Amino acid sequence: MPNISQRGVDMPASPIRKLAPLADAAKQRGVHVYHLNIGQPDLPTPQAALDAIRTIDRSVLEYSPSQGYRSYREKLVGYYKKYDINLTADDIIITTGGSEAVLFAFLSCLNPGDEIIVPEPAYANYMAFAISAGAVIRTVTTTIEEGFSLPKVEKFEELINERTKAILICNPNNPTGYLYSRREMNQIRDIVKKYDLYLFSDEVYREFIYTGSPYISACHLEGIEQNVVLIDSVSKRYSECGIRIGALITKNAEVRNAVMKFCQARLSPPLIGQIAAEASLEAPEEYTRETYDEYVERRKCLIDGLNRIPGVYSPIPMGAFYTVAKLPVDDADKFCAWCLSDFEYEGQTVMMAPASGFYTTPGLGKNEVRMAYVLKKEDLAKALVVLQKALEAYPGKTV
Ligand SMILES: Cc1ncc(COP(=O)(O)O)c(C=O)c1O
Repeated sequence: MPNISQRGVDMPASPIRKLAPLADAAKQRGVHVYHLNIGQPDLPTPQAALDAIRTIDRSVLEYSPSQGYRSYREKLVGYYKKYDINLTADDIIITTGGSEAVLFAFLSCLNPGDEIIVPEPAYANYMAFAISAGAVIRTVTTTIEEGFSLPKVEKFEELINERTKAILICNPNNPTGYLYSRREMNQIRDIVKKYDLYLFSDEVYREFIYTGSPYISACHLEGIEQNVVLIDSVSKRYSECGIRIGALITKNAEVRNAVMKFCQARLSPPLIGQIAAEASLEAPEEYTRETYDEYVERRKCLIDGLNRIPGVYSPIPMGAFYTVAKLPVDDADKFCAWCLSDFEYEGQTVMMAPASGFYTTPGLGKNEVRMAYVLKKEDLAKALVVLQKALEAYPGKTV
């Protein structure tokens, strides 16, 4: 039999999904599993989007233009304006989810062997896309003790060499919920400028910022307009993960030209998805407010609840809908698996993502988990009780 490619071998399994077989087995045994592991919003999609899909009146479901429908891109200009991001429709390329935007950014800007500096813990699929593009992720470590704030300039500079081509940030952050301050964004700008790097900025969670701190987009940073590639998606902001619509945005025409060649090769972003995404821009303000208010309450419920459990610590996430929490266990990978395979409390258990999968530095995140607050408050409250009981019963507990 021929061999699998090295790339295929090197591709990491998703840390979010790797416990899925154990969860399936628990469900088979009749155990209810609270999914704190995955960032799939459960709140309703805007009615306007659902209606637009229901009333599609076409005789052919054709390819759309490779860069996405002009009408949608033009409306997006107005959406970004509200965030003080000034674009033209030509700066925006519609992609198959934010995922494809990340991949095309890497494929268009990086040569095999080129290095990207990423603060860790990081969204795990960045590593997978880097491997797909032959690029190398180098990480600067952020720590739970420092609330996952950005490491000092020197930590970045220690990693910079002739292969360094880009910095990648996720703001607000998945998995930590951290939001970069103006000072931190300026620090990133200065490094990008000094070493003439690309800045890939994944801002798919911009709707979810809870602290009143300003949202500083990479597009707000002066003097590096040609270096910035913005990654975006409708998956989270409208609970539309399944329509697979994202965007790659840059003022850099050369980058756009390269990205367009990848877009043309994959022909078209999803047609139906664009119809829904375009309609979502008509969603009333209450939609955004209600969704936001719900996440604010869930965040409070989860974070307060976690910090009340003996030995557990979670910083207060400023954005997105995740937190990385420290648990009093010997090994979070083992604990998360044990919760699914060896534990239940009143017929229930919890599924969490071990944080080790979000770090590239071996050994980090060993007693941390990522939790998403995309469950109803009542379910979050029940999941917290189950977690506390699991921590009391776990043979590898450290308190
Ligand atoms: C930080 C971040 N970026 C990008 C994505 C990709 O999302 P999608 O491809 O659904 O747009 C996700 C999904 O979870 C994410 O968390």
